[in-house]
Amino acid sequence: MYSEFFDKAGEIIFVTNYVQEEKKNLVRFYERFDQKRRCCGLPPVSRESIEKWLEDLSKNGYGFIAKRGEEIVGHIAVVPKNGEAEFVVFIHRDYEDRGIGKNLIEFAAKFLKDIGVKKLVAVTEATNRRAIKTYLRLGFSVVGRESFYVHFERVLD
Ligand SMILES: CC(C)(COP(=O)(O)OP(=O)(O)OC[C@H]1O[C@@H](n2cnc3c(N)ncnc32)[C@H](O)[C@@H]1OP(=O)(O)O)[C@@H](O)C(=O)NCCC(=O)NCCS
Repeated sequence: MYSEFFDKAGEIIFVTNYVQEEKKNLVRFYERFDQKRRCCGLPPVSRESIEKWLEDLSKNGYGFIAKRGEEIVGHIAVVPKNGEAEFVVFIHRDYEDRGIGKNLIEFAAKFLKDIGVKKLVAVTEATNRRAIKTYLRLGFSVVGRESFYVHFERVLD
């Protein structure tokens, strides 16, 4: 699968499936990820744990990346289980607020719907206003709250 769009800064962004050939690039993306912007303990910090995390995600689900030229600027991972899929999404700090997160989530949602997944779910920290706004704008509903976390879901119809 493949799609492209102009982000809000007018740059062309490509969205496609994450494949093993991109592993080095994706590990580099996460090694450089600003630790202050981690959410729910992710992404892992050390190179070794990033590699292990990406391997586990690939074994259990699917990944999609957003690229500007050769550079990865965003990644979403989805793990389907029992008809629903949970996702995590990370955008490079220089590319935030350009609509890339929304495009990646919609891209993954379309893929998941096509393979028969009925529901998309996510959890974020209650202080993560950008993520909360992004999910609400995409039609997710809040289905639960616990001290630091908010749970979201969207039926894929
Ligand atoms: C959360 C995240 C994935 C969103 O990606 P993004 O590409 O910046 O998202 P988009 O540009 O598609 O949408 C961002 C929305 O948040 C809004 N926003 C930005 N800052 C905000 C704030 N402080 N309060 C409320 N809304 C805010 C933007 O205006 C935009 O909404 P709009 O399109 O209605 O104007 C990205 O910021 C990120 O990687 N954050 C760090 C990691 C993380 O928290 N991941 C999610 C949890 S797993």
